[in-house]
Amino acid sequence: MTPQAMRRLADRATEILIERIDGLGEANAWDGEFRAVLEQQLGAPPPENGRPAEDVLEQVVRDVLPFAARLDHPRFFGFIPSSPTWPGVVADFLASGFNINSCTWLVSSGTGQLELSVTDWMRGWIGYPETAGGLLTSGGSAASVEALVAAREAAGHPERPTVYMSDQGHSALKRAALIAGVRRERIRLVPTGDDFRLHVHELARLVEKDRDDGLCPVAVCANAGTASTGAIDPLMAMADFCEPEGIWLHIDAAYGGFALVTEEGRERLNGIERADSVGLDAHKWFFQPYEAGALIVKDERHLENAFSIGEDVLQDTIWGANHPNFANRGQQLSRAARALKIWMSVQTFGMARFRAAIQQGLDLARRAGARVEENPILELMTPVSLGIVCFRVNPADRSCTEDTLEKINRQVLAHVFWDELAFLSSTSVKGVFALRMCILNHTTAWDDVHRTLEMITRLGTQALETADSPSDPARTHRTESSPK
Ligand SMILES: Cc1ncc(COP(=O)(O)O)c(C=O)c1O
Repeated sequence: MTPQAMRRLADRATEILIERIDGLGEANAWDGEFRAVLEQQLGAPPPENGRPAEDVLEQVVRDVLPFAARLDHPRFFGFIPSSPTWPGVVADFLASGFNINSCTWLVSSGTGQLELSVTDWMRGWIGYPETAGGLLTSGGSAASVEALVAAREAAGHPERPTVYMSDQGHSALKRAALIAGVRRERIRLVPTGDDFRLHVHELARLVEKDRDDGLCPVAVCANAGTASTGAIDPLMAMADFCEPEGIWLHIDAAYGGFALVTEEGRERLNGIERADSVGLDAHKWFFQPYEAGALIVKDERHLENAFSIGEDVLQDTIWGANHPNFANRGQQLSRAARALKIWMSVQTFGMARFRAAIQQGLDLARRAGARVEENPILELMTPVSLGIVCFRVNPADRSCTEDTLEKINRQVLAHVFWDELAFLSSTSVKGVFALRMCILNHTTAWDDVHRTLEMITRLGTQALETADSPSDPARTHRTESSPK
């Protein structure tokens, strides 16, 4: 391409992106299309001859990119939202344009230094000593794999490993345990109480039994913000148990961990500094484009012990002490320069703005929870935690069966979905269907939360009107049935 053609294409892409971001609040929070339609438009074989790049760009912007959840929309409250900063987006563009491979110090020392700097910031937020360090990963799933492989190696790669996590542990942890070589039936799901936090005495009982049976516990995984309810496991008590047992404690703080930069989050996550490793996702609550995970290990030597493998063709890349080759700390050799976006965003806005944006998520969720509690047809199902509010339509003045409530709430969710003003998802709270709002985006204001709750109230009222209401002894009044 000529420089002029390159500039034209990039200018047009920039214009499209800025327009999109500027108009996000007025757009739908979600859009999608069936495969049959998309395949017809996009499924052709690769063309032998090309066409003008602007035409390709316009097609992609018309036929491909809109069919997606707008995770950065101010009213996107489903799953784990994500609203990247513009410097982060530009950083990814630059990293691609400079074609950086952050594999070794020799190949990219500049972004290698940024990765050291950014992971050192995270080390400080966790409260780890100087011996700690880590790497950036594609996300929380990869961080979990690398943590459990490091734990397994630290335990001497035993023949019959077991891993423990609460029954609220993320699927990423279970998958990581499988990849690390733990048999499916030896992934222990420790029961939680009504507060969704792991029962340490149950953990102790399972570990003791497994040891008696000749199995080898290699890691305990704690949640610092479950994806379902935001619950935080008893980190101190789990560390108290793991330390004398000599079992690696990994904390999955993928979505909740960045609350650490606020005073409130620091208090709530107290004890995180005692873990052997912590996984965090900057593409969740640290406002970065995908992919931006991190794994920080209290003694960083564990990572190289687990992952470092010599390679003839890379023999020139050994720069020397204190010049890490990040490829030796994890599973990827060729690696994107993920540190660039985090570093550029923080340099641009400063930590005060990040702290305020994260605190805003905490505050909005708390306010949403209070609004739910005041609302006569809504029921708060779990305590608001780390930006997550679980609730359902369940009128105070009327008793409904659990089946009816589930039907009503599913109906409400379906209407929210098709209404497209906001995007919500659901979860199962100890087997009970719950609506769930995860309020993390820095673009979200109270008005967005308020409008969404108003819509749910309206839809809930309509659904209740149409729901059958014969008197039924199996009906439970919400004060008795609440799974709080
Ligand atoms: C608590 C938790 N752990 C792990 C993950 C997996 O992270 P990723 O999607 O970045 O691989 C998620 C994703 O939402 C999460 O919420």
